[in-house]
Amino acid sequence: MSFDKNFFWGGAIAANQAEGGYKEGGKGEILHDFLTAGSVEKRRKVTYINKDGSTGELDYSFGFEELPEGAKIGEVEGYYYPNQEGIDFYHRYKEDIALLAEMGFKMFRMSISWARIFPNGIEEAPNQEGLDFYRGIFEELKKYNIEPLVTLHHFDTPLFIEEKLGGFSNRKAIDLFEKYTKTVLDEYEGLVKYWLTFNEINIPIAITALYKELGTKYNKKILQTLHNEFIASARAVKYAHKNHPEYMMGCMIAGMASYPLTPDPNDILLNRYNWEKMTFYCGDVMVKGKYGTYAKRIWDELKAKPDIEKQDFEDLSEGCVDMYTFSYYQTSVATTHENKDRVSGNFSAGIRNEYLEYSDWGWSYDPKGLRYYLEVIYDRYEKPIMVVENGLGAYDKLEDNTIYDDYRIDYMRGHIEEMKIAIDHGVNLIGYTSWGCIDLVSAGTGEMSKRYGFIYVDKDDEGNGTLKRYKKKSFEWYKKVIESNGQDLD
Ligand code: BG6
Repeated sequence: MSFDKNFFWGGAIAANQAEGGYKEGGKGEILHDFLTAGSVEKRRKVTYINKDGSTGELDYSFGFEELPEGAKIGEVEGYYYPNQEGIDFYHRYKEDIALLAEMGFKMFRMSISWARIFPNGIEEAPNQEGLDFYRGIFEELKKYNIEPLVTLHHFDTPLFIEEKLGGFSNRKAIDLFEKYTKTVLDEYEGLVKYWLTFNEINIPIAITALYKELGTKYNKKILQTLHNEFIASARAVKYAHKNHPEYMMGCMIAGMASYPLTPDPNDILLNRYNWEKMTFYCGDVMVKGKYGTYAKRIWDELKAKPDIEKQDFEDLSEGCVDMYTFSYYQTSVATTHENKDRVSGNFSAGIRNEYLEYSDWGWSYDPKGLRYYLEVIYDRYEKPIMVVENGLGAYDKLEDNTIYDDYRIDYMRGHIEEMKIAIDHGVNLIGYTSWGCIDLVSAGTGEMSKRYGFIYVDKDDEGNGTLKRYKKKSFEWYKKVIESNGQDLD
């Protein structure tokens, strides 16, 4: 048996993509409330209102474009904002959790929205309605013996902190985050044991490797934001270790394995440096408690360096995580050679790998890449490891009240088979929570039609639909996978 009898089979969602209820329960605003819908060709935008009442939109691409002086992010007439309603998990979580339980889920990954607990991030006392909302979810999960895995920050800083302080590029955000994390770590003792600090913390630095055309303008901001998030994460871990020793605290890294395109030593070196930058830079700080020896090379190359305070070294070394978790969707290719055959995955855009197939959104299908990543990472850190996102974003067609999603089953079967091999090779893989176990709003494009779930949600890209849930063919398949503890994948 490759999978341990306590293996955590499950699925994952995030507050900003699923909950909706954006003006309910005393919740504060987040950037996602004002993110428009996009597509594979059209980037999502953020809308804003100028002081004189005129309005505009800006290219959100990773939040780098700056707002005009005095403008405020907000709702503009004529736009549709898909995250405001999400899939209405806010009101329907009991029904949804019952369906997950029917599949036999052992673990459910979700996130707490900081702005539900501290609406602007700066309040003295937490918002009781927000605390009660998440307590309700955790109690519901407990009824079915489903272990929650809770992300403290899944892309959603309160808008007030983003606008007034510049988000985590400002050190003040560290203290505000600390207040929030201490509150929820204490509040849910006995209900939640597994915690992740920042979702896909490495995305900003990976962007410097993948999108060279951005130049150096934002490098200092990126490095400082990351450093401040490392400290914020380390403080949460330190606090948990001291006050809740039973907790397992994890990092969450976007798993972006890359391969050299050719055996040219220049490609081999570039690929190695990409791994250091995109993957190890964050993982090393969070697991080993210090920057890797190669950080200086990265800072030199980016012509920028984070400001580091004396106390930070202590926080980092005392705030090492207990487990490594990551998302895995695809791999990329690195080369120093001119190559025009490109694909368009949002965080793995780049050169096409002729040995792989690509989804309608340009994401490669590479199960062996998952094995490769698991083995590299486990060998490096020797900490329990979890795949906390994986899946196929695909167009689904509702027929006979179901979806015949054999393509999704094939995708997942391929990845689970490779996880099995990695375990047999010695990797201590303790869980797998597939992404978007119930359809939700795509983070990259804002579409509903990019679906990942075992459960179909009746809602389209313009927000029409009943929100009714339907079981897909993959629902029964995954149920069988869990029942057989990963042995029956047919
Ligand atoms: C990860 C995020 O980047 O990938 C999720 O943690 C996201 O929030 C997922 O939804 C899939 O990306 P997308 O763009 O298909 O939603």
